[in-house]
Amino acid sequence: MQSSCAEVQAQVSDRVLEITIVRPERKNALTMAMYQAMADLLNTAAEDRDVRVVVITGAEGVFTSGNDLMDFLGGAASSEESPVFQFMVALYNFPKPVIAAINGPAVGIGTTMLLHCDMAFAGEDALFQMPFVNLGLCPEYASSYFMPRIMGHARAAELLLLGKKFDAAEAVELGICNAAVAAEEALPRARQVAAELATRAPEAVRLSKQLLRKGTHDRGLEVIQEEAGHFQKRLQSEEFKEAATAFMEKRPADFSRF
Ligand code: COA
Repeated sequence: MQSSCAEVQAQVSDRVLEITIVRPERKNALTMAMYQAMADLLNTAAEDRDVRVVVITGAEGVFTSGNDLMDFLGGAASSEESPVFQFMVALYNFPKPVIAAINGPAVGIGTTMLLHCDMAFAGEDALFQMPFVNLGLCPEYASSYFMPRIMGHARAAELLLLGKKFDAAEAVELGICNAAVAAEEALPRARQVAAELATRAPEAVRLSKQLLRKGTHDRGLEVIQEEAGHFQKRLQSEEFKEAATAFMEKRPADFSRF
């Protein structure tokens, strides 16, 4: 299976598609081309009988630093036609198991995409954060919907309003990762579980994934769309411009004038 973008690598072996995010000079920040490549890979894999499980990981000790902030500042859309949205829907609707292997920073969508994977294994070096409010933005990828349901309002508010960072052990305790393992074990563990799943009866696995999501995912797509509408408007806001400019200028954001 071929990726349309050099910064997203795809390899199929023994019925497992491994997608690797490879943009180390920007801490694997995701550009529109990378989102499109991941969306296309997932849509192809959904129909491909040779793929039974997907593993998503990042290269060089980093999962992803989330959306490329320069892309956002440059006016890249997050609307429903955009590659970001295409990726979100492709992963949300993906009918086969998806397993994430996380090392290093998993920021923004790096954390929220875990809500749409079936299992996740985090190295002890993993560091999660959803800094949407810190950036003058708002939650995305249905995190405002799933986080309180998984961990309760108080803890979700701490993570989404304060943008608090958390580690692998806390991610397990919060219920968004399966296990915290030694840093060098995250990908091997994900591969091992993927290999195991790839030997199971494929229709039974797909049906079971579908059944597992019934009841919890009724409003998922609707919320993804609703949040995307707000997020798109927030990208035009002066609050976001101040936050993103401050990040690039390596200074704290100053929201005192708003
Ligand atoms: N978009 C664009 N560039 C990014 C980026 C992003 N999301 N994340 C990191 N980079 C760039 C940095 O600007 C830096 O560029 P420089 O070498 O030209 O200065 C380079 O990648 C290395 O990042 P740096 O911050 O020096 O690495 P670090 O190891 O100290 O910290 C992170 C890593 C991921 C914790 C930190 O870079 C970060 O918080 N990034 C922003 C995450 C974010 O807000 N994402 C959007 C969520 S909606």
